[in-house]
Amino acid sequence: MSGRGLLVAVEGIDGAGKTTLARGIVKRIQDKGMLAHYTMEPTHNLIGELIRSLTREYRDPRIEALLYAADRLHHYLNEIKVKLDEGYIVVVDRYIYSSIAYQGALGAPIDWIRLLNKYVPKPHLAFYIDIPIDIALKRIKTSRSKPSFYEEPGILEKARRIYLDLVSQGELILLDGTKPPEIIINKALDIIENYLRRP
Ligand code: TMP
Repeated sequence: MSGRGLLVAVEGIDGAGKTTLARGIVKRIQDKGMLAHYTMEPTHNLIGELIRSLTREYRDPRIEALLYAADRLHHYLNEIKVKLDEGYIVVVDRYIYSSIAYQGALGAPIDWIRLLNKYVPKPHLAFYIDIPIDIALKRIKTSRSKPSFYEEPGILEKARRIYLDLVSQGELILLDGTKPPEIIINKALDIIENYLRRP
């Protein structure tokens, strides 16, 4: 891991409240007078936009995993690493674990996904916001006119199971997404502050 900053990833299935948490953490850190930066994946750079424009014939989880890994490496080298070197707390809304959960749920081998992502460092802290699939689908329906390719109950259920496995392996920190946003943000900030205070 390069630089003096801290890399925090926020993960979850669609509708879990990742963006509210990631933006909330950044705002609260900035309010304390510290440097914090919000960013997201897929990015709005060339490869991220390419991913968004994929048509059905390219919707193979292996092709997707390759493209997400390329977008992530470019994102890391050109934005995340730069901010970490400047001392920022960088909060990334989706990171390596999204590829493991989603492309894994769609059938790409998880060991291979990890290998593709070996040139981006793991985050110092990675939160996973858990919500039941029925709540996620209700939230997606009210927030979007048309569900995305991934927002299908079977895929979300598999992705959730992979995320929960990563929690039990100690790679992700579990947050209860059914709680009010302020409670979730406070809990994540406590964990970040404890991490920063560690000897
Ligand atoms: P978003 O809803 O957070 O904007 O994410 C867009 C979709 O991208 C979401 O349904 C999950 C998907 N995704 C992957 O499948 N693999 C990845 O590596 C990333 C970063 C996102």
